[in-house]
Amino acid sequence: MSKAEFFRTMDSIGLALTFGDVLLKPGYSEVLPADVDVSTMFSRHVSLKIPIVSAAMDTVTGDLMAIELAKLGGLGVIHRGLSARDQAKTVVRVKMHMNGRINTPICVRMDDTIGNVLTMREERNFEFHTFPVTDNEGKLIGLLTRRRFEMSEDEDTLVSSAMTTDLVTAPEGTSLAEAYRIMIEQDEKVLPLIDGGDRLAGMCLFSDVKRIMSSDAGTHNVDSNGQLITAAAVGTGDEALERAELLVGKGVDVIVIDTAHGDSKDVFETLKELKSHYGDNVDIVAGNISQGSAAKRLVDAGADGIKVGQGPGSICTTRIVTGVGCPQVKAVYKCVSAIEGLGVPVCADGGIENSGEITIIIGAGAHSVMLGSLLAGTDEAPGTITTDPSSGQRVKYIRGMGSLSAMQESEGSRGRYRQDGTHTLVPEGIEGYVALRGSLADLVKQLVGGLRAGMGYVGAADIKELREKGEFDLLTQAGVKESHPHGVTGISEAPNYRRG
Ligand code: XMP
Repeated sequence: MSKAEFFRTMDSIGLALTFGDVLLKPGYSEVLPADVDVSTMFSRHVSLKIPIVSAAMDTVTGDLMAIELAKLGGLGVIHRGLSARDQAKTVVRVKMHMNGRINTPICVRMDDTIGNVLTMREERNFEFHTFPVTDNEGKLIGLLTRRRFEMSEDEDTLVSSAMTTDLVTAPEGTSLAEAYRIMIEQDEKVLPLIDGGDRLAGMCLFSDVKRIMSSDAGTHNVDSNGQLITAAAVGTGDEALERAELLVGKGVDVIVIDTAHGDSKDVFETLKELKSHYGDNVDIVAGNISQGSAAKRLVDAGADGIKVGQGPGSICTTRIVTGVGCPQVKAVYKCVSAIEGLGVPVCADGGIENSGEITIIIGAGAHSVMLGSLLAGTDEAPGTITTDPSSGQRVKYIRGMGSLSAMQESEGSRGRYRQDGTHTLVPEGIEGYVALRGSLADLVKQLVGGLRAGMGYVGAADIKELREKGEFDLLTQAGVKESHPHGVTGISEAPNYRRG
């Protein structure tokens, strides 16, 4: 039975399926797991080297998660529980992480005072301390370094007396490898690049260059400038438009309209405003939805990507509190089918606990998955490590963005669930703990390894083939029991399997 027939049959008897209800059928295969291509699209113009995106949750995606996941080929969606300014700063940290060469360094003048420079730093949210000193023609005269800042006791000190003029420079076309060699040989942390007329043409920082030279850049998800790709969440209305303006100004690659009900008037209005303002310069992904008709409406309104998931999340109580939602496998299949061929990718958001569910949901048609609690226990997630009072185990804190505490703290969280705070808060999420999972890189290797193996069983050489070839069987409780280890006690810990 084809996938379409399978879901049609399920529909005809009123069955809405989710993870645990279905398994992908193995198929004739000529592909080895190591050879499959797991690259895909998150939105019309933003690609992924692995189909994994981290959730816009304050216990999942801060700068570290966004940086490390992009370095592994995925994408982080920076949450919106932050002020717009702090969220924009986070975007800058991600975008600047791989910035081997700064093309237009922020410069200061000789007659500036240290106080002026400090004020400019504060006002423009710069976190760095190194400023080249240039004259009116852009010629490099000196360098104001962190050390010089620290040694200047008086804010009235002129830059001309604080700067160093003992400069090591390199020509503007210098390669990163060459810049790295020069900085090591000359024991310099900063290398200004100059053109034929001694004008400043760029600058290399040792810490950045070293990081790039020592990392496996081939796996990184980067833009055309070699900077890591990142996304950021916004809500709806004027606040979202202002937030988006700041984020786009800082170079964010995708804006995600992050709501619990993407099929609502305010989401369409915000989407249309953002699209008319930014056109194809920045992709706008909208969600969350779970109905095919909603997917079609969002695509018609200009969405560059759709996020599907109403209530499957580990920390969600939406379905229990409101009685509304849609089991995730059905939701993804329906949304994908409604917009197939229109060039708009679908991200399946929520409910994934094991790598096999990534294969299943892509087999149902998704282009990528968004993970919350699975990533919340990694070293890179922002939550603090603590001891779970009930089990005594070392754990990390996680909370739903619709949990009571998140709603109390953040207008964004209240807005996600369309509550303005003037009435009693009705949470749609919980807070709790997740097991520690070690490094993100190790976890992602297991998740992608499981997906690759699954694609090998299906006989899918790439994500497109998995999306097309995926065919399902409906499971019974006996089938589910048989799928898990059984009849064995004292099971030792596996890197990719936990029960419960
Ligand atoms: P997982 O299962 O990966 O799901 O932890 C992450 C997704 O869950 C959504 N989310 C929520 N949904 N109440 C909800 O109904 C909440 O408090 C909540 N917090 C997060 C969100 O889509 C996320 O990506």
